[in-house]
Amino acid sequence: MHSSFVTAFGYEVETARDGVEALEKLGPQHDLVLLDAQMPNLDGFEVAVKVREQAGHGDLPIVMVSGLPKREDRLKAFTVGINDFILKPVDPDELKLRLRWLIELKRARDDLAVYQASLEEKVEQRTYELSEALEEVTLARSLTHDAHLDTIRRLTLAAEYKDKGTAEHITRTGLYSEAVGIAMGLPEEVTDLLPHAVPMHDVGKLGIPDYVLLKPGPLTPEEQATMREHPTIGARILTGSNSPEIQMGEIIALSHHERWDGNGYPNRIAGEAIPLEGRICAVVDFFDALTQNRPYRGAVSVEDTIEMIREASGAHFDPDVVRAFEAAHSDIMRIHREFPDSQGYDFPTLKEG
Ligand SMILES: [Fe+2]
Ligand SMILES: [Fe+2]
Repeated sequence: MHSSFVTAFGYEVETARDGVEALEKLGPQHDLVLLDAQMPNLDGFEVAVKVREQAGHGDLPIVMVSGLPKREDRLKAFTVGINDFILKPVDPDELKLRLRWLIELKRARDDLAVYQASLEEKVEQRTYELSEALEEVTLARSLTHDAHLDTIRRLTLAAEYKDKGTAEHITRTGLYSEAVGIAMGLPEEVTDLLPHAVPMHDVGKLGIPDYVLLKPGPLTPEEQATMREHPTIGARILTGSNSPEIQMGEIIALSHHERWDGNGYPNRIAGEAIPLEGRICAVVDFFDALTQNRPYRGAVSVEDTIEMIREASGAHFDPDVVRAFEAAHSDIMRIHREFPDSQGYDFPTLKEG
């Protein structure tokens, strides 16, 4: 009966004989349910409850056509989710306005849902793109940092090569210093830098003439003075960098020959005036120089070298660093075993700088 009206309003209408059929036919294509309060099998209220139970129909407008409903029926209707009432006999103009209002509301809500879904998809896509970009930046940064460390290592290799030193010496001194730093309880920002910075201790030897650096036999006092310029030259090579590794390398290059008692060089500073990194480097460099074979002598045993370090504690070396060096003994021995010199000893001489 109402379908002819509704069709006349310009809407497409699908009718059902009763509530059961209506529920079967109901789909996402429908914008509104118009039902009678009195129907065979299921009444209007029961149909409304079932419509609301169906997925996706929580917001579907339901309009009930009824004779003069009792107060409790009106209340029940709103409780079960019926949106509006039309009284019989139906006034076509009123029906038209009410349907139009509800259908427009439903369509606006649908549009909003579609818009929201597309926004969510966009956000998801952007989030994905952002995380991809972030991953790329992180990778690029780590590659750049690796390249930076690689360059540092090649610089230290160049210095060791000139001095007939070995690649393993710089690896070992770096790792020994890290183990000592950890045993001293130094913060990770420092212990992470030590294995890269300590190997730079002798880069200044690049500036020492070969006739001094490679001279067989003892140096004259002038030659020794030239040789002792390598800490200052090293610091000059490394100065002004914004790399934390090279900044620490500069400190170590300048201070690794200072002595705890003030009898070192180049600045004859003593005790805690010597940067801690330099004090650590002094111990591990001494240990590594003595425990490796030299062309003019065999290696000193680990035990004897440790004994010499212990005896020089408080004189040549910082007692705290010596204690940490002994506390890190098992790590030191592991590194000592893991990185033996590989290139043999076919060079004429090596002065322990
Ligand atoms: Fe060294
Ligand atoms: Fe040195």
